[in-house]
Amino acid sequence: MSTPTVLRFGVFFQGVNFSTVWTQPDSGPQTDFESFRRLAQTAERGLFSAFFLGEGLRLREHLGALHQLDVAGRPDAQTQLAALAAVTSRIGLVATQNTTYNDPLDLAHRFASLDLLSGGRAAWNVVTTDNAWTGENFRRGGYLDHADRYRHAEAVVVAAKALWDAWDAPLAGSADSADSASWSADDPSTVVEVDTGHYRATGRSRLPQSPQGRPVLFQAGDSPEGRDFAARQADVIFSAHSAFDDARAFADDIHQRTLKAGRPAGDVKIFPGQEFILADTDAEAEEKARWVRREQVTPQTAIAFLENIWGTELSAYDPDGPLPEIDPVQEVTGETRGAGFRAAQAKTTADAWRERARAEDLSIRELVIRLNSGRGFVGSPSSVAATLQRYADAGAVDGFNITPWLIPSGLDDIVDRLVPELQERGIYPTAYEGETLRENLGLRPLQEEQDARRSA
Ligand SMILES: Cc1cc2nc3c(=O)[nH]c(=O)nc-3n(C[C@H](O)[C@H](O)[C@H](O)COP(=O)(O)O)c2cc1C
Repeated sequence: MSTPTVLRFGVFFQGVNFSTVWTQPDSGPQTDFESFRRLAQTAERGLFSAFFLGEGLRLREHLGALHQLDVAGRPDAQTQLAALAAVTSRIGLVATQNTTYNDPLDLAHRFASLDLLSGGRAAWNVVTTDNAWTGENFRRGGYLDHADRYRHAEAVVVAAKALWDAWDAPLAGSADSADSASWSADDPSTVVEVDTGHYRATGRSRLPQSPQGRPVLFQAGDSPEGRDFAARQADVIFSAHSAFDDARAFADDIHQRTLKAGRPAGDVKIFPGQEFILADTDAEAEEKARWVRREQVTPQTAIAFLENIWGTELSAYDPDGPLPEIDPVQEVTGETRGAGFRAAQAKTTADAWRERARAEDLSIRELVIRLNSGRGFVGSPSSVAATLQRYADAGAVDGFNITPWLIPSGLDDIVDRLVPELQERGIYPTAYEGETLRENLGLRPLQEEQDARRSA
């Protein structure tokens, strides 16, 4: 029998969302560093590989106003991770940053800075961002369609890697760094050029390499273009495919794409996002899950969820009553304003929801809860450990990016009760394997990875 995969955990905060519950007495506002410090240190106690921040560059709007029901208004990811670097020592620090709107060489420098200051623990979750209205925040505006966004993204990532690789020196501050090689003004190979068709720049690195060589690259984007991009460039894919069969199919697909890209299949690790809801017994965990879903989908959230499809105010409707009989006022939901639905046919969706609500006798709020309840491992620590064993045996994932639904205590039972069960089963690390994120994700050393690409 093949050896089971050792699973690794990350903790994932979405940029804007309604599923994180911040209403407990000790939750604190999400601008409060203390909540994040506590979570990052708890995750580190649980030997998590990564602390991962999603990022939205514009707050979501809803019917022309700020979407107040979202968790909204969080400090910039890189700044926040720099602060967390000072109060942690092993956990990786992953910032989601957008390739469409950042200046590539500047962004690469900021990541190199975080990587050096954290001792080789930084990673970049590369996203292209799928809504044009975010572009209104930026000088160049929302100017790229889907295919162009990926072409641009790849050129940006290639330039960032070139910049990071160009100053090939040992760790800054180490005994031999003062007289080690750095880039030379006479050496054209140390000049980095970016030309994406939309953007041109030329630069040179301002920093030597960190202990892990360069920041680890995550990628989040699910289309064939996104998957191929990850297969060529990423170290880790952050996916939305967590259900067992779906996860296996996704892993098969990514392994094939990775081989096609000329890399060994296992060189791209796969971490789906997932919620964990634990209690002493399975029955108690199910009860807790019902409570969590009702906390996540408040009466106002349920109405706002429908308004995304109907395209009009529905506050006169009772969240505990039936769905509106009136039809949506829009044909297709926009990709803009962050509605959360990408170009959905409004009437078809409304009809399907009404049909389901009638068939299952659901109120508005109950329907919205069902629509949002697909994800999550729910059970006692030993049941959830058994579920994870199945993933490990099948090699369906390399780990999970856990979305804590409760702040700040949402990781406590995972670390204190689930992690020991997994360690006993031999499917979770019992210590940090190294000092850098690369090591603690089970990735090969950078040089070896680059050699494997060349010989694949
Ligand atoms: C699991 C996952 C997480 C994502 N997280 C973010 C994020 O935090 N910020 C962001 O701007 N876009 C995020 N995206 C959006 C992607 O960057 C991308 O723009 C979008 O998925 C459209 O590309 P696709 O058609 O390849 O999926 C995420 C996508 C996925 C699949």
